[in-house]
Amino acid sequence: MQGKYLLRRATPEDEEVLLLWKNDPTTRENSGDSRVVTSEEHHNWFTRRLQSENVLLYIFCVGGVPAGQGRLDLLGYTAEISYGLAPEFRGKGLGRKLLTQLMEKAISDPQASEITVLYGQVKYSNVISKKLFKSLGFKEVMEPSKSGEMVLYKKVVR
Ligand SMILES: CC(C)(COP(=O)(O)OP(=O)(O)OC[C@H]1O[C@@H](n2cnc3c(N)ncnc32)[C@H](O)[C@@H]1OP(=O)(O)O)[C@@H](O)C(=O)NCCC(=O)NCCS
Repeated sequence: MQGKYLLRRATPEDEEVLLLWKNDPTTRENSGDSRVVTSEEHHNWFTRRLQSENVLLYIFCVGGVPAGQGRLDLLGYTAEISYGLAPEFRGKGLGRKLLTQLMEKAISDPQASEITVLYGQVKYSNVISKKLFKSLGFKEVMEPSKSGEMVLYKKVVR
């Protein structure tokens, strides 16, 4: 039986909901790229990500309902974490569950077997995400990667 919280790999059927979440104003505000994305741009982006061996794209489901997304972009021994919830699922403590399950995927997903460091790039203004990363053991890299963002990292213990 399916658990209440499930992080599953994305499929082509998830294209539309991911575009909806990508263009949500709060997601855009907290993203490095805050433009509104067209469905054509999104289609190209999504198709490439689904096919890439270096991208693990997941859908976070709550009671079987798609509630958010998580992504691990693999580069050498590192994986960059991106994540977000649909607006109606925010403010309920689900971000922690999503991030925790994403960290577990970095250990359990065979495609991530080389990964020894996880990191996230978070805007200084994104108080909630900073707090979540830190509460799950991520440490702040002192030099910002680019203006307005901090990098938080954590070693993967297998
Ligand atoms: C980031 C995100 C996933 C957080 O998930 P969430 O479930 O909505 O987070 P919560 O509301 O449960 O809050 C998480 C923590 O931040 C705290 N928090 C919430 N709003 C806060 C605020 N304005 N100031 C300080 N702390 C705040 C909560 O109290 C909670 O702390 P706790 O775990 O000690 O109780 C969600 O807000 C989201 O999807 N945002 C848009 C996309 C995004 O920013 N992605 C991350 C990019 S790095």
